[in-house]
Amino acid sequence: MERLRVAWPTRDDVHRFHVGRTADGSTTYLVAWDGDEPLGVGVLNWTGPVGARARAAHPDVVELNHLQVRAGSRGRGVGSALIGAAEQAVRDRGLDRLAVGIADDNPDAERLYRRLGYAATGVWDVTEYAWTDDRGVRREERERHQLLVKRLHLFVVSVTLRNTAGDLLLVRKRGTDRFMLPGGKVEPGETHVAAAVREVAEEVGLDLSPGSVGLLGRWSAGAANEPGMVITSDVFTAPLPGEPAASAEIEELRWLPIDPSIDHAADPSLSPMLTEHVIAVLLAGQGGGRQPHHPGANPA
Ligand SMILES: CC(C)(COP(=O)(O)OP(=O)(O)OC[C@H]1O[C@@H](n2cnc3c(N)ncnc32)[C@H](O)[C@@H]1OP(=O)(O)O)[C@@H](O)C(=O)NCCC(=O)NCCS
Repeated sequence: MERLRVAWPTRDDVHRFHVGRTADGSTTYLVAWDGDEPLGVGVLNWTGPVGARARAAHPDVVELNHLQVRAGSRGRGVGSALIGAAEQAVRDRGLDRLAVGIADDNPDAERLYRRLGYAATGVWDVTEYAWTDDRGVRREERERHQLLVKRLHLFVVSVTLRNTAGDLLLVRKRGTDRFMLPGGKVEPGETHVAAAVREVAEEVGLDLSPGSVGLLGRWSAGAANEPGMVITSDVFTAPLPGEPAASAEIEELRWLPIDPSIDHAADPSLSPMLTEHVIAVLLAGQGGGRQPHHPGANPA
């Protein structure tokens, strides 16, 4: 802490105050360093939002407060890096939602948070606090701020379906750039297999027989279309029961050859789940890239 206080002196000794508050484990003080130079700080509140209304409405989120990047270092990604570190710290504890309070007179910071996937909750609080400005003048502030929340982790199910050539069926949702396996969220009361069957019917118009659906594995990877979001998926496999057709929110289908001579990792149009896990498992399963035999997989 002394290194921080010396390198970034503050009038109210805010670093000492915030570090002191971490002693009981209720907060973590995040500091972004560039070598010996501290560039930014933020406080993670593990016990929930500070504002009374926010706490009542969203008691189980972690809140990031007092995010501040030094004046000369703004606009260079330090704030985004601190927010990313906060998100990782939340995920590392097995928690899945991070919140921030955004003052109604701070549209720049709000734009940054929205770009990173934080969504308005409509829950507003007012806080009053005192601080000392650069000229040493004590100021009383009354700030109205809204809680924004981001979900950091999502569980989904997805399905690998392959044609007679062994190519893998991928979908691209409307308004997005990346291709992924057909699939989606599990609805309350639904089994994972039932969710997989429903999602395939909704997205590509195919009726899978639940008995033909087997689990390939469960993996986690960065979400294809949402920055900072991690997806965990049960990936199922099933024989292709017919000719798929893009429906619901699917704009485009694609058949991806599963061939070891193709560098799929270099294809930016594929989801991380595909390039980091699924394709490698399919390649290993077909033993050096020979096309697998799929009984009953030929729709024609
Ligand atoms: C908000 C803040 C933490 C962002 O940190 P940063 O390191 O500048 O952010 P990044 O470089 O990662 O991202 C830049 C984005 O930050 C936002 N931003 C907010 N204030 C900014 C400033 N003074 N200069 C540059 N960007 C700012 C902009 O939205 C910018 O995105 P844009 O490309 O859409 O304009 C920092 O500007 C800051 O400390 N501001 C004063 C304190 C504050 O408002 N804290 C937020 C409380 S919730």
